[in-house]
Amino acid sequence: MRKVLVIVGSRREGNSLLFGKKVVSMLKKMRVPVSYIVPGNQKIYLCTGCMDCDQKGVCDFKDDMSKNIQLVKNASLIIWITPVRWNLLSSDIKVFMDRLNPLYASQELEGKKAISVAIGSQGKETYSSESAITSLGSFMESAHMNCLGHFTINDCLQVKDQKKQEKNVNYILHQIKKIVESL
Ligand SMILES: Cc1cc2nc3c(=O)[nH]c(=O)nc-3n(C[C@H](O)[C@H](O)[C@H](O)COP(=O)(O)O)c2cc1C
Repeated sequence: MRKVLVIVGSRREGNSLLFGKKVVSMLKKMRVPVSYIVPGNQKIYLCTGCMDCDQKGVCDFKDDMSKNIQLVKNASLIIWITPVRWNLLSSDIKVFMDRLNPLYASQELEGKKAISVAIGSQGKETYSSESAITSLGSFMESAHMNCLGHFTINDCLQVKDQKKQEKNVNYILHQIKKIVESL
């Protein structure tokens, strides 16, 4: 059965959260089971790099990553939604990625399907959101995941700015819909 996991990389009631809610609402209308998490609002310890998970396949920390790992394992598609932070993905997403190492060690990220979306305040011409997409893409490539699509939303600083990007937002939602239907 298709299951989608939406991961939002901003804890601000901002553009990433707003777009994430639009994705979830669309998937619910499609009757696709969807889980939605905001790692920044969870208890997630920073990876210490001890590499115990390379041997044991699990992390020693007991925190919200235990249930997140199950969600990632069970997802047929992950949708990353990151705010652009200094031309990169957000630190909340980075912390989450580091803590996925147990799944990398057990090769359970291999072939995992994903879509990435980056939302930033700068214009498309600065390539700032493209850089954030590249950082997400680098992670997925290195984890041997399968990126099915990547999209950027630009010129969004305040939440009201997303209204002006409606055409692009609707285009991205439509592309996500098509990808989910093809799963
Ligand atoms: C620390 C920080 C760095 C940022 N760097 C960038 C950037 O490099 N490029 C950009 O387009 N927007 C940048 N932004 C703006 C956010 O991308 C913007 O606020 C957007 O709405 C997405 O964030 P949000 O989901 O938290 O609202 C930055 C915001 C913060 C707080």
